[in-house]
Amino acid sequence: MTDASAVASPPLRLDRVTRRFRLRRGAQTTALDAFSLDMAAGAFVAILGPSGCGKSTVLRLVAGLETPDEGTVSIGQDTPATLARAHRLGVAFQDHALLPWATIAANVALPYRVAGRAVDHHRISELLALVGLKGFEHARPRQLSGGMRQRAAIARALVLRPDVLLLDEPFGALDFITRQQMNIELQDIWLRQRTTTLLVTHDVPEALFLADRVVVMSGRPGRIIHDLTVPFSRPRTPPLLRSHDFHHLVDDLTEMLAQAHHGVDVPSTGASRTAGA
Ligand SMILES: Nc1ncnc2c1ncn2[C@@H]1O[C@H](COP(=O)(O)OP(=O)(O)O)[C@@H](O)[C@H]1O
Ligand SMILES: [Mg+2]
Repeated sequence: MTDASAVASPPLRLDRVTRRFRLRRGAQTTALDAFSLDMAAGAFVAILGPSGCGKSTVLRLVAGLETPDEGTVSIGQDTPATLARAHRLGVAFQDHALLPWATIAANVALPYRVAGRAVDHHRISELLALVGLKGFEHARPRQLSGGMRQRAAIARALVLRPDVLLLDEPFGALDFITRQQMNIELQDIWLRQRTTTLLVTHDVPEALFLADRVVVMSGRPGRIIHDLTVPFSRPRTPPLLRSHDFHHLVDDLTEMLAQAHHGVDVPSTGASRTAGA
């Protein structure tokens, strides 16, 4: 057990958050309807849910990139906007958005420049070693594999020692084996730093392997339909993935996700970033 008083990372709370988006011709869609989530300081929570149920909206609200129409988001005593301005949030989204012309070290150093702070080169070496990119400081993103670029993006998200880490399908583009390696590395990082972490994923085993709690959201408007405390001790290792208990929980959550999928209403507009299946 973690002693909450010893954790520097703050708790995180979404309290009855409603978020609507205006569509064409005055229509609107309710992405989140009275969505509440309470995270303890230093917790690792994974969010599962059907496509379009509002997962990214939750993360964007916590990142201060959007504001609720109703309800509140708080991180400790602060608002997301306050933390974002203070550069205390670490964000890694699926499209890792490394600068193609900059070296890996320069990409990881970017948050220092954005924050107007002196670059801590020691910290950058330390983090690149932590994510297994030692020796690639001077490489450009295109010279690295997809998995290496994702790791660079995670290093960048961690570089300013954020109070909160927000990961939106950060390993979505990776093959199965690379993804497992990334999960093990991410767990190692989290065990060392105990940063309050919110991970969106569509991968059930990934959620169960990494998180203390897995919440399952319904189809839009997204609500939490299940909140599971993950019973596995840490550090978790690959044999866990093959255990009966693990498979059992994967099956349960997959079944819940399938039910949530059936509840998804068809969007009234074709204006969407996602290619329909
Ligand atoms: N900026 C936006 N403008 C209009 N609709 C949006 C916008 N962002 C999200 N939505 C809609 O809100 C819903 C939830 O989106 P999102 O949070 O991206 O879902 P998820 O990440 O779970 O796939 C979807 O129906 C999406 O089309
Ligand atoms: Mg999303």
